[in-house]
Amino acid sequence: MRVGILTAGGDCPGLNAVIRAAGRRLLRDGHEPVGLLRGYRGLAYREHRVLDHDALSGLLPLGGTILSTSSYDPYRHDDGPERVRAAMERGDVDAVIAIGGEHTMDITRRLHERLGLPVVGVPKTIDNDIVGTDRTFGFDTAVHVATEAIDRLHTTAQSHDRVMVVEVMGRNAGWIAVTAAIAGGADGVLVPEVDVPVEELAATIRARHERGKDFSIIVVSEGANLAFADGRSHKIVANAETDEYGYERLGGIGSALATELERVTGYEARTVVLGHIQRGGTPTATDRVLATRYGVEAAKRVVAGQTGVMVALKGERIDAVPLAEVVGVKGIDPAWLHLARNFF
Ligand code: F6P
Repeated sequence: MRVGILTAGGDCPGLNAVIRAAGRRLLRDGHEPVGLLRGYRGLAYREHRVLDHDALSGLLPLGGTILSTSSYDPYRHDDGPERVRAAMERGDVDAVIAIGGEHTMDITRRLHERLGLPVVGVPKTIDNDIVGTDRTFGFDTAVHVATEAIDRLHTTAQSHDRVMVVEVMGRNAGWIAVTAAIAGGADGVLVPEVDVPVEELAATIRARHERGKDFSIIVVSEGANLAFADGRSHKIVANAETDEYGYERLGGIGSALATELERVTGYEARTVVLGHIQRGGTPTATDRVLATRYGVEAAKRVVAGQTGVMVALKGERIDAVPLAEVVGVKGIDPAWLHLARNFF
């Protein structure tokens, strides 16, 4: 079989590890993996690259994606579905492994249902917000980067008696924020799923001062609301434009929150925005292993003709779920919020 492998949407640590694992498994079984460049664009426009043993070598620790990525959606272009149909009829590929986030899974489902594209999805995103899987690869690396930043900020915050507000990514899910806040021993956390008024955070910071702790670290998710005790609450967006998927461009809550905390408490506050540092660079060992398990499973399923599914982590096991069930955003599990409430 000739199996196209593509990476679509935002990049994420571990993409190359999936490509390597799926490619190696396919080669081992006598199949031909082909890299489709820049997501579904590579399929539509016949932009391919050979994935032989040489091309698949040295990829495990490499961040980004050797196949490049884009947000190309065939259904947003008049000729898109026709191009994909033509690619299938020509036999450019016999099946596809699509590595992407929620939007890519949605495109993948439609291509499978409407055009009969034999395709298996692999869930990627640092946000860990894909429905149907317990974990996405890339998340562990992002949490690791954020935790290291929080560790480093402790010493400078303590030296200057400051409040440090750390803005992390995660879009409209608080997974990165809560996990990194717990791992880094932060003093407060704000997530999109629950509003916490500025006054409540300020009271926490004051209480710490009264206990002799003259500094505080607050982790805030980019999608969290700036909320007040009188019920006012709003999201901060970096600019009015949405991205190519129609998502708000989030960013700025860290600085807005720092300003408010300084105003209410009188303590000096600073902001650190971690941004794309959370997405770049080498994946953690945990992400490399998860990505490898996903890649092998996707290759096995595609060869077995078990398509129209997304590989998924269920507890300790790698399984698969129908793409039709991969709908919406998986917000943080309330159990994690309960855990966090012991400390914040
Ligand atoms: O979905 C991954 C993510 O990094 C989000 O956490 C963030 O909001 C968004 O992508 C940033 O997107 P871009 O790379 O387009 O700025």
